[in-house]
Amino acid sequence: MSDKILVLGSNGQIGTELVTALRSGYGSDNVVACDIRRPDYEIKNAGPFEFVNVLDKEILKAVFEKYKPTQVYLLAALLSATGEQNPKLAWDLNMNGLLNVLDLALVYKTAKVYWPSSIAVFGPNSPKVNTPQFCTMDPNTVYGISKLAGERWCEYYHQKYGLDVRSIRYPGLISWKAAPGGGTTDYAVHIFHEALKKGSYSSFLSAETELPMMYMDDAIRGTIQLMDAPAENLSIRSSYNFAGVSFTPEVLAAEIKKHIPDFKLTYSENDPRQEIADSWPKSIDDSYANKEWGWKPDFDLAKMTADMLMNLKK
Ligand code: SER
Repeated sequence: MSDKILVLGSNGQIGTELVTALRSGYGSDNVVACDIRRPDYEIKNAGPFEFVNVLDKEILKAVFEKYKPTQVYLLAALLSATGEQNPKLAWDLNMNGLLNVLDLALVYKTAKVYWPSSIAVFGPNSPKVNTPQFCTMDPNTVYGISKLAGERWCEYYHQKYGLDVRSIRYPGLISWKAAPGGGTTDYAVHIFHEALKKGSYSSFLSAETELPMMYMDDAIRGTIQLMDAPAENLSIRSSYNFAGVSFTPEVLAAEIKKHIPDFKLTYSENDPRQEIADSWPKSIDDSYANKEWGWKPDFDLAKMTADMLMNLKK
């Protein structure tokens, strides 16, 4: 039987690129993009699209019934900064969206489910440097709380019902194809756009705020690598730590200056996202991902910066 893949939340920063990557591997007709909004990007004409709200159980069930997917990627979520503006909606979408999908995956015997977690599952009392897979986790954003609870549900469905659900704790993702959706790490995307447009940027995070980040090419490659890994190699059914590169706004600006020598970075104060960033790790120990499915990032800061600027200039 050939694979049929549903990508729920296909219009977001990750979905836009994941759908394209999956379509090139599995064939356009076998990857169904689903979102509550009409797609703007290359997704539109390249393959099937369905309007789906993951909180609407009837519509969600109808797409499972129509396509009988062998794999489902659930990317629809509210991120850390937007989540704080509407905590109850963030909890509802991030949690009930996941439970709806996990339940339908059992009913329709979906072979594999992918659900993204985040570095936001860590909190003020988690170790900050090389944060390990297993440690104190006390997230204090509703986004982080929902991701940590979601991880526990994923492991629960795996252990109790044998569902093959796989997950990665993404760091801040940097990409040029689609805009990020309201996260604390978004400065590291905005800075590139403004550097090219205005030659300057005002960062909402302070100069020395170090956070784990990753270039989207690596994130997509790693995600598909995890989904392709033999199930028996995977010991983590909550969510894998996943690392790319860590940097501060100051260090990123210095790298951008190598390409745009007059680039100026200033800092705005009292942004609520600073407190969120301060509660998160600076760097991540991803040795489980490395050992169990061979994860290794390809993009360092210099390579990522050059690639971002080259593509955005076009
Ligand atoms: N990029 C996300 C955020 O900042 C982290 O998962 O919310």
